[in-house]
Amino acid sequence: MSIHLILLAAGEGTRMLSDRPKVLHQIAGAPIIAHALASADGLGGRRIVVVGYGGEDVRAAVASLGEDIQVVEQAKQLGTAHAVTMAAPALEGANGDAVMLFGDTPFIRPETLALMQNARQGGADIVFLGFETPNPGRYGRMVVDGASLSKIVEFKDTTEEERAITLCNSGVVMADAATMLRLASEVGNENAAGEHYLTDIAALGQAQGLSVEVVTCDEAETLGINGRADLAHAEQVFQTGARCAALENGVTLQAPETVWFSFDTVIGRDVVIEPNVVFGRGVTVETGATIRAFSHLEGCHVGTGAIVGPYARLRPGTELSENARIGNFVELKNAEIKAGAKVNHLSYVGDATVGRASNIGAGTITCNYDGVFKHRTEIGENVFIGSNTMLVAPVKVGNEAMTATGSVITRDVPATDLAVARARQDNKPGFARRLFSKLRAAKAAEQKG
Ligand code: UD1
Ligand code: MG
Repeated sequence: MSIHLILLAAGEGTRMLSDRPKVLHQIAGAPIIAHALASADGLGGRRIVVVGYGGEDVRAAVASLGEDIQVVEQAKQLGTAHAVTMAAPALEGANGDAVMLFGDTPFIRPETLALMQNARQGGADIVFLGFETPNPGRYGRMVVDGASLSKIVEFKDTTEEERAITLCNSGVVMADAATMLRLASEVGNENAAGEHYLTDIAALGQAQGLSVEVVTCDEAETLGINGRADLAHAEQVFQTGARCAALENGVTLQAPETVWFSFDTVIGRDVVIEPNVVFGRGVTVETGATIRAFSHLEGCHVGTGAIVGPYARLRPGTELSENARIGNFVELKNAEIKAGAKVNHLSYVGDATVGRASNIGAGTITCNYDGVFKHRTEIGENVFIGSNTMLVAPVKVGNEAMTATGSVITRDVPATDLAVARARQDNKPGFARRLFSKLRAAKAAEQKG
């Protein structure tokens, strides 16, 4: 049975002290809200996001996360129950359950939502997600009676006794969609904050004879982002998880704590990652590749057995075939480096193709940009590009061709040819010695005077 998602993201997030809506701040290269949506991946129902503060920005970000997502507006933030009722039109005619998640809570596991689903199938009408914590702080407290949840008391409304309760509310609720909407619309706002609390549907449900239960999860899953410190902590939590996952999947990390992953990094088994490597968005590394120290990769694909770095920068559109070699201080952008080809030292290769088994000499640059347009450089197979060659694009170098060191290549080089495009050397006998004498004499005269 599919479950509809109501994701609340209308709050301002004042404690971020930011011009950007809170849910658009990033963890591992993806907005917080993308992580929250991922928790509910595979539920199969409608997806509704409630926006308010910074609504247009959130709307635009959400549109890029899924075409099916419906965005509804809560113009005034009158509380979580009020926010849920904003989803009513979007849920028109929808049967089945709904789950409510917060957009600023990125780490709820899909397995946890499955446990809540089990509780629903086991007969609970409303299921809240709680967690045990030694530091309940300002969380809502869950008052239970055996297996049944009697009520949730928001921190501001707690009595001293209730504050001692260590079972806290995560915010996540699952129930039949129509029931959730109906109860949400019935809760009042007679509380310390004057807000319509969704948590009040626990007591309201009980009063109406519904069964209300709690499923618990680990406190770590319920981490909510309120300020920059939470954001930094969440990044740490994500990275720790990603490093553990990589190690469990057969990846060698020599210094795991120094490697940074993105939310979508894919690393094959037997990949070796040396210290201080950063993966930006959209990177896939195939089996058996090695990423050496201090390399930065983004939007690229590294083929089987390739070696990258140390100190390499792979920018978006880079495609390394098997056993390619990219060495130190090499920058690649929108470049295909075919099997066994080498770009080993101090080069920029952008908007280019380098054919199989070709070698790009040290200091080579593809001059791809004329100030207005970008142009391609196409290098064939088994080509030797001499050190410090400038390839002024658009330009093609045929199979098995060579360029002489220091050449500025402005015309295509046919296959098997050698292109020499530099001034011819002229040796002037004894000239250096005569010039030195003259210069030294001039310096001596200057010091005397
Ligand atoms: C909420 C829970 C509390 C729980 C805590 C866990 C309620 C009433 N309280 O408290 O029991 O322990 O989360 O972190 O649910 N939002 C809207 N519109 C609104 C109000 C809030 O979209 O009118 C959104 C916020 O953007 C935020 C989420 O709902 O993402 C939670 O709201 P917040 O005000 O942070 O609730 P808490 O006080 O943290
Ligand atoms: Mg909160």
